[in-house]
Amino acid sequence: MASSESESIVKDAVKEAVKESSTDGNSETLVASLLVFFSNPVNIGLTLLCAYLFYKLFKSGSSDNDSQSESFKLPPPLPKRDMTLDELHKYNGKGPDGRICLAINGKIYDCTKGRRFYGPDGPYAPLAGRDATRAFAYFDVQAVKDDWDDISDLTPSQMSSVQEWEMQFSERYEYVGKLVKDASEIRSYEDDDVAGDDEQGGDLNEAENPKDK
Ligand code: HEM
Repeated sequence: MASSESESIVKDAVKEAVKESSTDGNSETLVASLLVFFSNPVNIGLTLLCAYLFYKLFKSGSSDNDSQSESFKLPPPLPKRDMTLDELHKYNGKGPDGRICLAINGKIYDCTKGRRFYGPDGPYAPLAGRDATRAFAYFDVQAVKDDWDDISDLTPSQMSSVQEWEMQFSERYEYVGKLVKDASEIRSYEDDDVAGDDEQGGDLNEAENPKDK
């Protein structure tokens, strides 16, 4: 109880300080809103999470693991190919060439150049070598499964945010191929220089899940 007493003493002191320094009531309203905001433990948790992700982003941005730093050499582009989950898991940034791939909405992107985000020290490391669809749907980096993830339970609004993220990945990173459940579904792109590009563009505008096809 002592802590709630000292909490209210601090709150009163802050309010008094603002009253004295402000020429209008705006600052007081702002402080009051902040006090209400931070009185909810969920908001405190979210703020701490954001601060942690910011910290990781800026820390990894200046680290030696950054793909832009001289110590890391980007591996050559990956030939177009479909992958099973087991193959995808290998591209988690911890392999000898440091390659990082992730899947979103059934499509695999080579995100090695985004190493400061997805590399072992990056804020989004749990997505590396994974099907990240659910993480983007929930906006929760930890929401990734080790096994095949059936995303048919996602709501239309979650699917639409998945598609927005997918659009960003398609603009920023190289498309590698499809994430397939079974090796028998892997198709060959040998005679097809731009294999998958049509499918990629098509799927982005469709509301359906390519993994269901
Ligand atoms: C809640 C706190 C969060 C904060 C403050 C935050 C902050 C940021 C910032 C500042 C960037 C841009 C970095 C840059 O361009 O230098 C960024 C990019 C990004 N964030 Fe977050 N983020 C948060 C949560 C999340 C979550 C939950 C996810 C995934 C589910 C996520 C996924 C991403 C991705 C994929 C990028 C783009 C990385 C790329 O360019 O490849 N973020 N975030």
